[in-house]
Amino acid sequence: VVDIRKLYGQTDAFTYDPGFTSTASCQSKLTYIDGDQGVLLHRGYPIGELAESSSFMEVAYLLLNGELPAKDELDKFTYTITRHTMVHEQLANFFRGFRRDAHPMAIMCGVVGALSAFYHDSTDIHDPVQRVIASHRLIAKMPTIAAMAYKYSVGQPFMYPDNSLSYTGNFLRMTFGVPAEPYEVNPVVERAMDRIFILHADHEQNASTSTVRLAGSSGANPFACIAAGIACLWGPAHGGANEAALNMLREIGTPDRIPEFIARAKDKNDPFRLMGFGHRVYKNYDPRATVMQKTVREVFDALKVSDPVFEVALRLEEMALSDDYFIEKKLFPNVDFYSGVILSAVGFPTSMFTALFALARTVGWVAQWNEMITDPDQKIGRPRQLYTGPTQRSYVPVGER
Ligand code: ACO
Repeated sequence: VVDIRKLYGQTDAFTYDPGFTSTASCQSKLTYIDGDQGVLLHRGYPIGELAESSSFMEVAYLLLNGELPAKDELDKFTYTITRHTMVHEQLANFFRGFRRDAHPMAIMCGVVGALSAFYHDSTDIHDPVQRVIASHRLIAKMPTIAAMAYKYSVGQPFMYPDNSLSYTGNFLRMTFGVPAEPYEVNPVVERAMDRIFILHADHEQNASTSTVRLAGSSGANPFACIAAGIACLWGPAHGGANEAALNMLREIGTPDRIPEFIARAKDKNDPFRLMGFGHRVYKNYDPRATVMQKTVREVFDALKVSDPVFEVALRLEEMALSDDYFIEKKLFPNVDFYSGVILSAVGFPTSMFTALFALARTVGWVAQWNEMITDPDQKIGRPRQLYTGPTQRSYVPVGER
């Protein structure tokens, strides 16, 4: 390896940190994670307490504004979000341009990016008022867009928002309701979904959030930045893991096949990994997985259903956590391990799982984007590289090569 910097007289030093495992890209007051202890705090509040006692709207307010809202503040915020749930009629044409079997995340990358063309009035990132409006629009319209992606895939008409419902109830109705029939929101399912949204709202500088910040650092408009976040989240090592985890559990099928899959996960010649296991930051139990596991039982009880994959998941967790490989590498279930079991019981196809993650994470993305814009130290993101290619050489005409 030749250090070509020397050829050009470049001697400035930089760190080489693939995957940014030990490089902080920003300062943030939003979310704190202690991966060794399994702690996750939003603005200081433990995720377990928020998931137990608050609502997604309350957590959204907290992340955006720094403090939990008083009752009137929460009412006003919820009302404002509610007022922005509709999307422009022309946007429906975007959906119609896609194939029916298009992945909802493919649709969302395009449709959310296209929002900037509909809301030119809120793309001035230097105007604090416009930033707030753009943030509210994104949080409010994401359930409408996700539900439309689902409706399009099953060939049903789009449902307009019903703003007398809660944020989550409205989303469930737009997804599972049909225009000709009344739709009753199941309160346990509504609460479970709200909790899933809380658990996915923010997770400091993960890949998609870093993507949003990096895109935003150039001054790109917020709709484009969130579309970039959606694209990154889609990857199977990130937001796509909940879909992959449920597919894996279904493939395992019965507890007696678990040892075979654990052996595969440990085999370095096999690319297979236990999906929903391991985390870049948590080297202890992901606190979100604890809440998820509890919520599975509540949803099963409320819907009077069961699913053999839950039994497989519980046994797999038990066996992996007593296996030396997983103990030594500190691999524990992450938030995605159980979420798919719940979403499947509620009626979502696996292809919608990551879209739901994107819906919830929009709150974190928007809050992080706002924090970045207002940070006086903010600069355009421009990582360095360690060049390992050829040193300078002369061009050879094509006939002489
Ligand atoms: N199954 C088997 N082995 C694993 C797993 C797994 N799920 N996860 C990590 N390992 C092993 C790796 O092979 C590696 O072994 P080695 O030291 O012998 O090379 C070691 O543990 C460390 O793994 P890395 O990939 O280096 O850890 P990293 O922090 O880069 O990756 C990640 C974290 C991507 C989440 C990884 O654990 C993984 O691929 N998990 C499965 C996918 C998943 O569940 N993703 C969701 C993440 S949470 C979220 O995005 C909401």
